[in-house]
Amino acid sequence: MEKKNIDWSNLGFGYVKTDYRFVSDFKDGKWDEGKMTQDDKVVISECAGVLQYAQTIFEGMKAYTTQDGRIVTFRPDLNASRMADSARRLEMPVFPEDRFVEAVVKTIKANAAYVPPYGSGATLYIRPYMFGSNPVIGVKPADEYQFRIFTTPVGPYFKGGVKPLTIRVSDFDRAAPHGTGHIKAGLNYAMSLHAIVDAHQQGYDENMYLDAATRTKVEETGGANFLFITKDGKVVTPKSDSILPSITRRSLMYVAKEYLGLEVEEREVFLDELKDFSECGLCGTAAVISPVGKIVDHGKEICFPSGMEAMGPVTQKLYETLTGIQMGKLEAPEGWLKVIE
Ligand code: PLP
Ligand code: COI
Repeated sequence: MEKKNIDWSNLGFGYVKTDYRFVSDFKDGKWDEGKMTQDDKVVISECAGVLQYAQTIFEGMKAYTTQDGRIVTFRPDLNASRMADSARRLEMPVFPEDRFVEAVVKTIKANAAYVPPYGSGATLYIRPYMFGSNPVIGVKPADEYQFRIFTTPVGPYFKGGVKPLTIRVSDFDRAAPHGTGHIKAGLNYAMSLHAIVDAHQQGYDENMYLDAATRTKVEETGGANFLFITKDGKVVTPKSDSILPSITRRSLMYVAKEYLGLEVEEREVFLDELKDFSECGLCGTAAVISPVGKIVDHGKEICFPSGMEAMGPVTQKLYETLTGIQMGKLEAPEGWLKVIE
C-alpha cells in the first residue's frame, strides 16, 4: 500500500480529510449493518436532537505504525466500553461494543495510506461519534441516531511538541458533581470553549479545572487528565467521579507500576499541595504525555523543579515506555494492541 504524499513530520493537530469513513444508522429501535463511505457530508433535519439539545458523544483513539511495519491501535475495547457508558448517560442507544471495535478496524484499514510511517512523530487519529439525528423540539432524547467514524493524520496536540506548558487555575468549572464530567459528551467541550479562548488570550496553554463543589481539588484540563510525580518518585493522579476516565492515564498507572516499578496512587489531589510535587504532566490520546512546567493560581506561580525546558525525568520514562509499547518497541501487556494489518 502506497502512503499518501503528506509532510508527516510537520502535521499539527488538525483535520485532514481522508478517503473513507464508517456510518451506521439507528432507526426503528435498531442499528443497520453500517457501511464505509467516501461521503464526508452529514445531512440531518434542521431540528435534529444534536443541533437543538447537543445530544452527541464521541471517542478519540489513534493508529500507529510499529517499528516492524504493522498498523496497530491501542486498547479499542476500552473506548468501546466508555462510549457505551456515554451513550447510556445521554439516553442514546449503545453501538454494540464488538461492532465498535470491528468498525474502528475497518475504518483504519480503509485509510491505511494515511497512517503515518514509523518514526515520523505523527499518528492517525480516529474519531468515533454518535448524534441524535431526527427532529426533537420538546426536550427529550431523539429516536434516530447516526454513529460515524472518521480518521485524520495528526501531529502533537500542543504546539511546540514536548516543551513544558504553562497552565492556569480556571475560575470556570468544567463539570458538576453528579453531572457529565465522567463521559465524553460534546456538551462538556462546548462549555470549555470560552475558558480555553480566555486562557489563550491571557497567554496560558490550558486550564486546570477544580472540583466545582469545593474548588480545592484538582480535576483535569479540557482534554487531558493530570499526573504528578512526588519528590520521592511516586506517581499520583487525581481521583474524582467528575473527570473522564482516561485510557492513557489508566495505562500509564499500570506501566508505572509494572514496567518501571514505581509506586502509584490515585487519590484526591489538593490545590495547596501542588507546590510539593516535582513534576507534572497532562495525559490523553491527543496529549500523549505533555509536560507542565508552571501552574499559575491567580498570580501565584507554582514552578515545578523539572523546569520549562524539558520533560521531567520520571515523566520522560513514562512517555518512552508508553510510546514504546504503542510503537511495538516494547512488549505490550496482553490485549493492549489490536493489530490492523
Ligand atoms: N480528559 C478529557 C476531558 C479528555 O477529553 C480526554 C481525551 O480523550 C482525556 C481526559 C484523556 O482520555 P484518553 O486517555 O482516554 O484519551
Ligand atoms: C483525545 O485525546 O482523544 C481527546 O478527545 C481530547 C480532545 C481535546 C482532542
